[in-house]
Amino acid sequence: MNTKRLSSKMEKALSQQMNVEDLQSRVYLSYGIWASDEGYGGISNFLFRHAQEERNHSIKFMQYILNRGGKPTIDALPNPGPEPKNLVECFDLVFKHEVDNTTKIYTLVDLALQEKDWATWNFLQWFVKEQIEEETLAMSLIDKLKIAGGDRATDESLFNLDKTLEETPDDAPLARDATGENPL
Ligand code: FEO
Repeated sequence: MNTKRLSSKMEKALSQQMNVEDLQSRVYLSYGIWASDEGYGGISNFLFRHAQEERNHSIKFMQYILNRGGKPTIDALPNPGPEPKNLVECFDLVFKHEVDNTTKIYTLVDLALQEKDWATWNFLQWFVKEQIEEETLAMSLIDKLKIAGGDRATDESLFNLDKTLEETPDDAPLARDATGENPL
């Protein structure tokens, strides 16, 4: 008996996203290595933690496909790409990666809607929310660096930024959790 509860098209698309999340993990690992090599221990710690989050995202896609009777495929991953030239470029690239990933998640949501695959649509809503958090977090990196002086940041402000990022939580607060008493 065929127990697969995903269309072949959806199975393939989710499997591709599993590999995309894995690639994202490697991209953040490569940026973390770059940051550590530049002497930014706190920033590299932040990026390494984020690499682990991306790997977790990949595992969620893998497990969902398996749960629905499908079979994910591990693809060869491309090179994570050139390393950033400086911190401004590093944080801009993090934001760009997240926006690109959001676009990919939205494409999957569209497909679930077209196929009336409400189980997958429901599964993907977790990622829609996660992308809001990740984009917010990436924006906050850009803002923090801007406040520290951007391209012209002093060694002291970079030292403080580096320390801050070591302690920055992995998740950004969501607007839906804001209240008058605690606007976040
Ligand atoms: Fe898994 Fe940063 O998106």
